[in-house]
Amino acid sequence: MFKLVALTVLLALSGTQAFWTACPGVLAPTSVTSDVCSGSSCNVRLGQDFSGVATVSFTRAHAILTTRITIYIGGVGVDIPQDAPHDNICNSLFRDGVLTGCPTTPNVATEWRINLTVTSNTPTVNNARVRFEGLENGVSEVCVDVMASIVA
Ligand SMILES: *[C@@H]1O[C@H](CO)[C@@H](O)[C@H](O)[C@H]1NC(C)=O
Repeated sequence: MFKLVALTVLLALSGTQAFWTACPGVLAPTSVTSDVCSGSSCNVRLGQDFSGVATVSFTRAHAILTTRITIYIGGVGVDIPQDAPHDNICNSLFRDGVLTGCPTTPNVATEWRINLTVTSNTPTVNNARVRFEGLENGVSEVCVDVMASIVA
């Protein structure tokens, strides 16, 4: 009985303090999972990959989704440039384990395999907001914010 109560409390807490949130006004994933995240935050070391899987149901067929990754340090966004193939999230879109890429198929659950290589040049932060986005013609078309600590 105590275990059941404890589990219920844990679930309630994790439900209110997820490590990820939607970005205002932009399509969000329906779920996000990551080995480096639990409860309300994510933890990665320099040299480690910050990877996770977001499930997205796009509303339109997108031809390109340029990657933008921003780390907010004291409220100021620092852009983390991505090299190919990580510079376009089309290269990270899968269905049933198969790379489907772009154009995206609307209204079907698509796996967005998020992968940020945390190099030694990546700023270290303590519980900061990190935003992962895909842009088409400069407009954010899919976006998720996660709370993360990046440590040396
Ligand atoms: C993330 O990207 C790096 C560099 O391309 C690659 O070595 C690594 O296997 C990727 N990790 C995942 C989980 O896809």
